[in-house]
Amino acid sequence: MSKYDLRSILFIQECRAEGYSWNEVADEYEKEFGERRSHDTLRMAVINYLPSATVEVEEEEMEMPRAGKREPNPLPAYLMYEPKTYPKPKKEISKGTALIIPDVHWPYADQRAYNLMLKVAQDVPDLREIVILGDWADFYAINSHGKHPKYTQTLVEEISVAREKLEELVIMFPKAKRVFIEGNHEHRLARYIYNNAPDLFGIIDVPTILSLNTLGFEFIKYGPNQKYKVMGSNLYARHEPIGGGTHAANSTVDKAGCSMIFGHIHRIQQYRKVFIDGNDHLAASVGWLGDKNSEVMGYLKNHAQ
Ligand SMILES: [Fe+2]
Repeated sequence: MSKYDLRSILFIQECRAEGYSWNEVADEYEKEFGERRSHDTLRMAVINYLPSATVEVEEEEMEMPRAGKREPNPLPAYLMYEPKTYPKPKKEISKGTALIIPDVHWPYADQRAYNLMLKVAQDVPDLREIVILGDWADFYAINSHGKHPKYTQTLVEEISVAREKLEELVIMFPKAKRVFIEGNHEHRLARYIYNNAPDLFGIIDVPTILSLNTLGFEFIKYGPNQKYKVMGSNLYARHEPIGGGTHAANSTVDKAGCSMIFGHIHRIQQYRKVFIDGNDHLAASVGWLGDKNSEVMGYLKNHAQ
């Protein structure tokens, strides 16, 4: 291998001045002088020949420490950073939006709040499912707590309003899947029949008198194990919370072990918990749409819409 002379050193410097990287300089050097030199050798040649020369080193050309020479890591292994890995969703999340309607208590609804809810829902472009969360109808005429003299509506009148409002939903959202979750107020009908006309049990029921089949509603019966998977997702809907106490959403997320949305308590609550296995569950009470000034609801101390 020939030694460097002034010509070869100046050639290297000119290449660098033209903006060539050290690897490119090595290529050019080989073309010019017919000898392959590594970029490190060329760099050292310039430094040795011209001690005052400033030799820039591109970051990508810096030598990596060789095996065996590497400094031992000062941190114990357990303190070294490890990128966190997140579990992939087990299934694809359903696309679209569900309209979940909590306790309206027809005909004792807050018409203003209900209309506002409909107005917002009409602006949702991909509304795929309507879930009535229970207590759609009040069934005040057959309640077992006694009746305020101001309210004289018969059961037939109550039911006709509740059915009309269901039809209105069908007309407004004809393409959405429709689900009717039975609440404790609808369950008043079954209780009334048990107590007063047991022979009619199975003949007169909520789906029949509200024409749910005709209107295309899937009916989810009231009971301790009641649940419906909203749009096939991991969010379950039911009328009542599973847990009680001051914060029903908190106790429900503990007891349910899954995400859950519910009505019944007429309050707005939300609680989220991440469990030890990394599963993230949410429980939400979504308020109600009934008339809080109605004496029909006089047995409840507070409500939130
Ligand atoms: Fe209710």
